[in-house]
Amino acid sequence: MNKAIRASDTPYSMDVVEGKNYFWCACGKSKKQPLCDGSHSGTDFTPVIYKAPESKKVFFCGCKETSKQPLCDGSHSKT
Ligand code: FES
Repeated sequence: MNKAIRASDTPYSMDVVEGKNYFWCACGKSKKQPLCDGSHSGTDFTPVIYKAPESKKVFFCGCKETSKQPLCDGSHSKT
């Protein structure tokens, strides 16, 4: 599998709504970061679904290096 494109050096904060599904961009090519816009078409990547367990602010990974997809684990500051 090819390496994902680093979309951002920092995570994306987003207010999510309980029970709603969010499709996190795993490839880094989306123009609607941190969410998928279909740009992964033709790559080995597919978006990662995040179902919000509650309404709150979350931090979606922007560097695409997180080990806790789709959420930030601090990897952006190590690479
Ligand atoms: S655009 Fe990146 S996973 Fe869909």
